Amino acid sequence: MLDKCSASGKIQACQCRRWLLGFLLSHKTLILMIWTLVFASLFWWRMSYVDELEFSVPPPPPLRQVRIGPKFRPVVFNLSDFGAVSDGRTMNTAAFERAVAAIAELGERGGGQLDVPAGVWLTAPFNLTNHMTLFLAEGSVILGVEDERYWPLMPPLPSYGYGREHKGPRYGSLIHGQNLKDVVITGHNGTINGQGQAWWTKFQKKLLNHTRGPLLQLMWSKDIIISNITLRDSPFWTLHPYDCKNVTISNITILAPASGAPNTDGIDPDSCEDVVIENCYIHTGDDAIAIKSGWDQYGIAYGRPSTNILIRNVTVRSVVSAGVSIGSEMSGGVSNVTVENLYVWESKRGVRIKTAPGRGGYIRNISYRNVILNHVNVGIVVKTDYNEHPDGFFNPKAIPAVENIYFHGIHGQDVRVPVRINGSQEIPVKNISFRDMSVGLSYKKKSVFLCSFVQGRVIGKIFPAPCDNLELYDLRGRPIKRSMSAKKKTKIHH
Ligand SMILES: *[C@@H]1O[C@H](CO)[C@@H](O)[C@H](O)[C@H]1NC(C)=O
Ligand SMILES: *[C@@H]1O[C@H](CO)[C@@H](O)[C@H](O)[C@H]1NC(C)=O
Ligand SMILES: *[C@@H]1O[C@H](CO)[C@@H](O)[C@H](O)[C@H]1NC(C)=O
Ligand SMILES: *[C@@H]1O[C@H](CO)[C@@H](O)[C@H](O)[C@H]1NC(C)=O
Ligand SMILES: *[C@@H]1O[C@H](CO)[C@@H](O)[C@H](O)[C@H]1NC(C)=O
Ligand SMILES: *[C@@H]1O[C@H](CO)[C@@H](O)[C@H](O)[C@H]1NC(C)=O
Ligand SMILES: *[C@@H]1O[C@H](CO)[C@@H](O)[C@H](O)[C@H]1NC(C)=O
Ligand SMILES: *[C@@H]1O[C@H](CO)[C@@H](O)[C@H](O)[C@H]1NC(C)=O
Ligand SMILES: *[C@@H]1O[C@H](CO)[C@@H](O)[C@H](O)[C@H]1NC(C)=O
Ligand SMILES: *[C@@H]1O[C@H](CO)[C@@H](O)[C@H](O)[C@H]1NC(C)=O
Ligand SMILES: *[C@@H]1O[C@H](CO)[C@@H](O)[C@H](O)[C@H]1NC(C)=O
Ligand SMILES: *[C@@H]1O[C@H](CO)[C@@H](O)[C@H](O)[C@H]1NC(C)=O
Repeated sequence: MLDKCSASGKIQACQCRRWLLGFLLSHKTLILMIWTLVFASLFWWRMSYVDELEFSVPPPPPLRQVRIGPKFRPVVFNLSDFGAVSDGRTMNTAAFERAVAAIAELGERGGGQLDVPAGVWLTAPFNLTNHMTLFLAEGSVILGVEDERYWPLMPPLPSYGYGREHKGPRYGSLIHGQNLKDVVITGHNGTINGQGQAWWTKFQKKLLNHTRGPLLQLMWSKDIIISNITLRDSPFWTLHPYDCKNVTISNITILAPASGAPNTDGIDPDSCEDVVIENCYIHTGDDAIAIKSGWDQYGIAYGRPSTNILIRNVTVRSVVSAGVSIGSEMSGGVSNVTVENLYVWESKRGVRIKTAPGRGGYIRNISYRNVILNHVNVGIVVKTDYNEHPDGFFNPKAIPAVENIYFHGIHGQDVRVPVRINGSQEIPVKNISFRDMSVGLSYKKKSVFLCSFVQGRVIGKIFPAPCDNLELYDLRGRPIKRSMSAKKKTKIHH
């Protein structure tokens, strides 16, 4: 890193800064006085404001109302009071169901909170209800039963047509909900553990007849908060919001082994709208985050995009797959995704867009800002031949659009191939932009910025040098060089 003040061309700015500093120091007392005045008047204004409001303040809340976690609930239950036993062997499914039923009764009156105290609580899958907070105390573990005979079967997701791995029905999730609103799952870092090892082994030995279930799946629901907990060893995808709206996932840890834990994606927002994923640490056996919206003709028919998704301040590690993916199931469309302050380490890929002919839909208006790649095989990947289809009835003419993709502030070290954008004749990648990129290479190779069938631009200098297909602009947006393909086109027109 260069010292900013010694870089040539910045000297003037630095002198200016020094002058400002001198001014501030010599006028310290004056500035302090002004601040004190402003602060005091603000304080006085607040006080009188509070005075005026005094009469309309509501009475204090009833005694049992608590605020643990982000939401008030009028009633709090203790799982122990429903006959649950935390020895890690007793099945507590009925206790969970009784507790949820008790909260369901309170629905219209603000709902209730279920405290899961410290201890290991074995259970089969159970459903949540409206206006519910599931609160996992420090040291608490909800442990999913390994034996799949306890897991109910459910119809396939409409936008997938099939279970993802087998035709016909699929296993539901350990913790499940449909058509719910106002659900909070939080705590003091308690854990939901899916005991995935048994499932992964059976899957690899082909002993399962149905698609494995996620750890936590909410379908057709809204106003969801999932925070301050740990999710680990899911049989399949870990956290799967499906066709949901207004979902906040904050400050959670998701863990599964780096290898031998097939399809243990961390978070899969699927046909969801208004999603925030922030302050999380995710290290799993597949994609850490994968934004989806249905599969081929089933996804096209269902037609629900994933849109308005913000991912920020997230640390991810994916030894076998990618940090943040979009696709490959994206047939309902994916748009307006912002990924910022992402740190990817020890991963096969950093960020990836994957699709194929037959998917239809679009991936559009995606921006990545301030991504750090540390020891990653391929940094940025666009793959347009991800030919995994539910059946032979997909329409090969359903061509997805991939466009308006912006990379701003991509840095890192120890990366083999920083960029591999593999558009195709059928699926060209349009309007992709790069700005402020510097990625240290892990070994010297010629092809470190690979492109095919891509149109877009580079603004300012980037490292490594971009492929010829991209147009070059300076930082003020003035063109420096038109792309090779654009030149060729011009020639043809002459
Ligand atoms: C997470 O836990 C912290 C500390 O207990 C608390 O302040 C915060 O409100 C919680 N956040 C959410 C979103 O639940
Ligand atoms: C829940 O009930 C158990 C058993 O009565 C008790 O030991 C525990 O402290 C209670 N937990 C909370 C959070 O009230
Ligand atoms: C949860 O609810 C869904 C939808 O109503 C139902 O199909 C499923 O069987 C329920 N799961 C359990 C474990 O009760
Ligand atoms: C994150 O969660 C942990 C417990 O899981 C809590 O101690 C911490 O305060 C939380 N941080 C924030 C910013 O909510
Ligand atoms: C929560 O627990 C997980 C697993 O035990 C741990 O890795 C993580 O650091 C903890 N998070 C916080 C905020 O304490
Ligand atoms: C799978 O199906 C086969 C044949 O129908 C049956 O023998 C086996 O028990 C089933 N396995 C499971 C895990 O359901
Ligand atoms: C989103 O959900 C949160 C949590 O339930 C809620 O406080 C908020 O009002 C919701 N936002 C909108 C726009 O409905
Ligand atoms: C980023 O997330 C981590 C948890 O993964 C948290 O400890 C940290 O405070 C967050 N930073 C900001 C700026 O929110
Ligand atoms: C895009 O998503 C962000 C949330 O990440 C939202 O604030 C913004 O309004 C959305 N833009 C459009 C055009 O919908
Ligand atoms: C993408 O962004 C463009 C320009 O900002 C806007 O006109 C268009 O509606 C957006 N498309 C989607 C699907 O969000
Ligand atoms: C190209 O993408 C940028 C974002 O990177 C967007 O602002 C612009 O509107 C797009 N151009 C067109 C023609 O869609
Ligand atoms: C794109 O993918 C095709 C098929 O996998 C491969 O043959 C080609 O070399 C790739 N191109 C680039 C630029 O990576």
